[in-house]
Amino acid sequence: MNEPTILAIESSCDETSAAVVSGGKVLSNIVATQAVHELYGGVVPELASRAHQQNIIPVVTQALRTANVTKSDLNAVAFTRGPGLLGALLVGCSFAKSFALGLNIPLIEVNHMQAHILAHFIDEPTPQFPYLCLTVSGGHTQIVLVKDHLDMEVVGQTTDDAVGEAFDKTAKMLGLPYPGGPMLDKTAAKGNPDAFQFPVGNMPGYNYSFSGIKTAVLYFLRDKTKVQPDFVQENLADICASVQNTLIKTLLKKLVQASKDLGIKEVAIAGGVSANSGLRQALQDYARKYNWNVYIPAFQYCTDNAGMIAIAAHYQYLKKDFATQYVSPEPRLKI
Ligand code: KG4
Ligand code: ZN
Repeated sequence: MNEPTILAIESSCDETSAAVVSGGKVLSNIVATQAVHELYGGVVPELASRAHQQNIIPVVTQALRTANVTKSDLNAVAFTRGPGLLGALLVGCSFAKSFALGLNIPLIEVNHMQAHILAHFIDEPTPQFPYLCLTVSGGHTQIVLVKDHLDMEVVGQTTDDAVGEAFDKTAKMLGLPYPGGPMLDKTAAKGNPDAFQFPVGNMPGYNYSFSGIKTAVLYFLRDKTKVQPDFVQENLADICASVQNTLIKTLLKKLVQASKDLGIKEVAIAGGVSANSGLRQALQDYARKYNWNVYIPAFQYCTDNAGMIAIAAHYQYLKKDFATQYVSPEPRLKI
């Protein structure tokens, strides 16, 4: 069977999502975002698990209906095994196992970070192997050498915080509402990216460090507001633009180095932070400067979604990479 029809489920953090892929084409991709976390300014794991339980059946039903597929058309069921929040992953894992058992079809466990990278195979144009993928999300920051659909090697990564965390924590300090990253992006659009300078750690090789920037921003704001109490309100856009600029430059510096050293000009970005308008623009600029072919995912495939789990499952199905009913979630699953 080379044209498998697969139902895929994503429940690693705060989006409950289901998608159907058939013959490598994503036919539906339904995402239920959990608004409950807005009240707390961040994801509350227990609330995420409960919301997944409430959302999963309606989301799966809608994904099948939108794709015009019935349960009997399915050849496999896929789910995110990790990385992610244990309780959240358990909901998708248990649901997929029961579904596969009930329909007597194979089960496929997908690595969430591999899936972010494979989101580039949902729509044309697709990258040529080998390509470099800068994977930037709320929990990860990695430069991955992608040799084949299922053959990937992490060549550099953050040694502490993820870049998404740096966006979110800075946004919180500036009083922007959750989720911070997209709000900071929006505010930065009206500011001057060179207004203020912030230091970031320079790690060896292709590694990153983003834990220092939040302390740098904290002290900067403390010192400025001491002499000018309305400093943040009066300079909000410039602060956002400057922090964003620093983060983007840091990310791309190592990517340029990796591209030069490895001689690879096929360059992609993936993960939630790849929705950032500054990063998307900067990548286009670097493409011209360094003669890269760049691949930037459509917005709906940047942040967490089951479409990317479905496409990863498609390639795993072709390799008969199936899981057993003994599989359990792995919150720290690595590429
Ligand atoms: O991939 P993702 O949806 O979930 C994880 O796997 O972590 O990534 C979420 C991260 C959050 O830190 C969020 O603030 C960030 O992606 N993000 C953005 C933007 N959209 C989402 N950061 C900066 N600018 C954006 N436009
Ligand atoms: Zn993600």
